[in-house]
Amino acid sequence: MAIKLNHTIVHSLDQRAAAEFFAGVFGLAAAVPFGPFLGVQVGNEVTLDFLDADGMEIQMQHYAFLVSEPEFDQIFGRVKARGLKYWADPGRSQEGSINHHFGGRGVYFQDPSGHLLEIITQPYAK
Ligand SMILES: [Fe+2]
Repeated sequence: MAIKLNHTIVHSLDQRAAAEFFAGVFGLAAAVPFGPFLGVQVGNEVTLDFLDADGMEIQMQHYAFLVSEPEFDQIFGRVKARGLKYWADPGRSQEGSINHHFGGRGVYFQDPSGHLLEIITQPYAK
């Protein structure tokens, strides 16, 4: 199948704060403006286009990223350095711990708009 996710819009309370948070925590290149969006590209050519919600109520979305073991250390290190809460589970009941699903490591944390971000070192076994 040749279909690839190319971009998605991330409604944000403050698009610049959200884009800077995402690029900063994940160690990615700074956001690039495109129309009303601030785009941050990840490794598989998907762009997250941060957009001000402009008063609309933000529905929490979930974005999960497959990262290498060293990247996990770097990203998780920045999460902890910023004093962010993190959880081992998407229901956010296991605060302050990570999971080891599928022989890897995984953790959840929130962006400034409340979206639930996840980093995993092994994809879910499906
Ligand atoms: Fe997930």
